[in-house]
Amino acid sequence: MQSNKRPPASVLFIFGGSGDLNYRKLTPALYNLFLDNWMPDQFAIAGIGRSAYSNEKYHEHLLDGVTKFSRRKGKQNGHWTDFTQHVSYLQMDGDDAAAYHKITDLVKEKEEEWGVHPNVIFYLAVAPQLVPSIAQKLGALKICGEKSTTRIVVEKPFGHDLESAHELNLLLSSMFAEEQIFRIDHYLGKETVQNILALRFANALFEPLWNRNYIDHIQITAAEAVGLEGRGGYFEHAGALRDMVQNHILQILCMIAMEPPVSFDANEIRNKKVDVLNAIRRIGKDQVHDFAVRGQYSGGWKKGEKVVGYRQEEGVNPQSNIDTFAAVKFYIDNWRWQGVPFYVRTGKYLNQKATHITLHFKQAPHYAFPPESAETWRSNRLTISIQPNMDISIRFQAKRPGQTMMLDPVDMTFDYDAVAGEHAPEAYETLLLDVMEGDATLFMRNDQVDAAWRVIMPILEAWENRPPQDFPNYAPDSWGPDTADALIARDGHTWLNLPPTP
Ligand code: BG6
Repeated sequence: MQSNKRPPASVLFIFGGSGDLNYRKLTPALYNLFLDNWMPDQFAIAGIGRSAYSNEKYHEHLLDGVTKFSRRKGKQNGHWTDFTQHVSYLQMDGDDAAAYHKITDLVKEKEEEWGVHPNVIFYLAVAPQLVPSIAQKLGALKICGEKSTTRIVVEKPFGHDLESAHELNLLLSSMFAEEQIFRIDHYLGKETVQNILALRFANALFEPLWNRNYIDHIQITAAEAVGLEGRGGYFEHAGALRDMVQNHILQILCMIAMEPPVSFDANEIRNKKVDVLNAIRRIGKDQVHDFAVRGQYSGGWKKGEKVVGYRQEEGVNPQSNIDTFAAVKFYIDNWRWQGVPFYVRTGKYLNQKATHITLHFKQAPHYAFPPESAETWRSNRLTISIQPNMDISIRFQAKRPGQTMMLDPVDMTFDYDAVAGEHAPEAYETLLLDVMEGDATLFMRNDQVDAAWRVIMPILEAWENRPPQDFPNYAPDSWGPDTADALIARDGHTWLNLPPTP
């Protein structure tokens, strides 16, 4: 095992302990941290839920999730029994204030056993409507007053719109100090997303070109090949714009567009990101159709399998106007980005899973080569692939080998996957470790959440007020509705659809 500087003793309570997020993501992440020797010497994890489980049954259930969803795919399950010595199940109803003593009892027990006061972390992996009531009951516990050791982790969606996010922030801040609140956006924990900062700010090469003088436009695609995966009930109240753009995509956009930070202090990084959100041009309600398009998938075929349309999914209104696809053109009104469009898109049941960012550079100012040399001429492009491929690639012109001067675009690629392979931690590993260490750099501050809502509110309101006339408007396995192609084609561009992973 490698030797790491590990976090202090910690007790982690996972509300939603029997739920899907814990099963697929949190426990596999905690187990990987354990295998990689990142968990504290002294730690305890308590899954909280209403269903009845013995500890033994609970461990079996979690092991099933680890085997299916961990990046190690069940390899090294040999240490599972050691890990489960630290894991227990607390059956309790989060609505029952009288049951919360079970939490304080466990903390006391561990404090006595370990001889130190541990970090106490509450992870709210529950449906958004349950968050306020649980947070209120936790806030009443004395341990929540211990600002340096007690933390609360809140999953997205953070609010349903600007107003509800604001209310939730007010509620949380009436009980916890801002440094105790960790608003999670798992995209920020992805290795390749963090690598954007390294690429931009640890190299002298890119930053001088990273502005309106050299960049023509930027595209961010977060395409999903999967559909609802049984989450119809949730998605009906969300839609793609709320589910992906308000958080994950805007956060990526901030990392691409932010000014260089002076230090890696959590607040410094977050200040720079808020500056970007505040500089995004507000889309007037009557201009929304020029800047944003929405889509909803119909029934059809997905990789040879018949799938139902969104309106026929379980838990979905058969007349639903919810967007399963969204594409938006943003402008950032500041010196660096004035006039450079940022096109973003996301959708369910698209042709393939692919999250990538491309910076399209302007044309070379003068072209000295004979016209026939340049049949395949293309402007330079920098592509950062986040998933499933993890790479950074630069496209430039090179001479085709031979006696004539012919030019071809070629790619120079750094393959992150080949370097990191299965050792690259999953986003939740990074973020859970950060919570135990108390490092909030990769988490959303309250003003960031508000600012992101402010950006998308005009679109949400316009869409709610004007029902779509053409839903469903894209087939599964496509790249979304034609209107998305038209959005970018109006400016003379096309979306970059990267070829699938071989
Ligand atoms: C979640 C959304 O935040 O991100 C899901 O709620 C979406 O709808 C998921 O599928 C995508 O995450 P990833 O890491 O698979 O790209």
